[in-house]
Amino acid sequence: MSDLDALKATILQEVADAADLDALERVRVSALGKKGRITAQMKQLGGMDPEARKAAGQQLNAIKDAIQEAIDARKAVLAEAEMQARLERETIDVSLPARPREIGHIHPISRTVEEMIAIFGEMNFEVAEGPHIEDDFHNFSALNIPPEHPARQEHDTFYLEARAHDGERKVLRTHTSPVQIRSMRTHAPPLRVIVPGRTFRSDDDATHSPMFHQIEGLVVDKHITFAHLKGTLIAFCRAFFGVDDLPVRFRPSYFPFTEPSAEVDIGCSKEGGQLKIGGGEDWLEILGCGMVHPKVLENCGIDPNEWQGYAFGMGIERVAMLKYGIPDLRTFFESDLRWLKHYGFLPVDIPAPVRGL
Ligand code: DAH
Repeated sequence: MSDLDALKATILQEVADAADLDALERVRVSALGKKGRITAQMKQLGGMDPEARKAAGQQLNAIKDAIQEAIDARKAVLAEAEMQARLERETIDVSLPARPREIGHIHPISRTVEEMIAIFGEMNFEVAEGPHIEDDFHNFSALNIPPEHPARQEHDTFYLEARAHDGERKVLRTHTSPVQIRSMRTHAPPLRVIVPGRTFRSDDDATHSPMFHQIEGLVVDKHITFAHLKGTLIAFCRAFFGVDDLPVRFRPSYFPFTEPSAEVDIGCSKEGGQLKIGGGEDWLEILGCGMVHPKVLENCGIDPNEWQGYAFGMGIERVAMLKYGIPDLRTFFESDLRWLKHYGFLPVDIPAPVRGL
């Protein structure tokens, strides 16, 4: 083997051995670069006689081409391998669950309201809202609570100062029921609304907060009966507490704005001081309801001979405490971040009935 053949074999071996693109480039420079081994051979051609130069020149050119070709081929292989490695390094499995990040927590009241909207939303209810500052008409009289009615005292109303020009005293709404009146007076039936929101009563002890939350429900349509009310509320309670056979009991009661009226209890057990929602000996009251009183429909310009309805109202703190085992009402509004971290919910975790609530 001539010296040139040996040099060619050495360089081709180096090309084959180059482990990455940088190493390959170093081989190229050391062979074909300005001071490379093949380039050095080329330079010697000048000193040869014409015959020898021609033969050596052809041989060198062939070697140079062969080396360049080997480098190009090796380069393609290495580039492909590098791309593969990079793709593997940078893969993202989009099917993995989101990695929870510490960006705060959803308050149990907000979460509970979202759950209720999700459940009633599937039953085609719309969310309605009303003002926190109400007038006597919407909060009381249109709801069939006349001026001297005992319900007014029971509500421990917060009154605002009398207005200068006419002496009217607004109130902080004591329940979400005034939004029933607002909905019926601004929308022609049929109606199907829920109203989650803040309510206010001048009451402050271990089981009462002067600001608390209720959710109201109102359905007005033709041929609505108590059976619709029962079916809807039983389905709601079972979905909300996630107990398919949850016992639900309707107990006769009284509210001025419904007739007949009922209170709804859910079954529970309290063995060993441990409260469990579901079958058992005990009952827990969770909401009030009834058929919308004909006078209330009339107060909203709706003919009770043509339309009927049912309504319900529920305290949100109370059911949130029952569902999530939160023992103390006051802690809801203390803004203690440790409490919120413990009882709160991750923002990425959005309530959906299909997953169970
Ligand atoms: N507004 C009532 C309260 O605050 C709750 C209530 C009871 C609302 C019966 C209703 C209902 O719509 O039908 O105690």
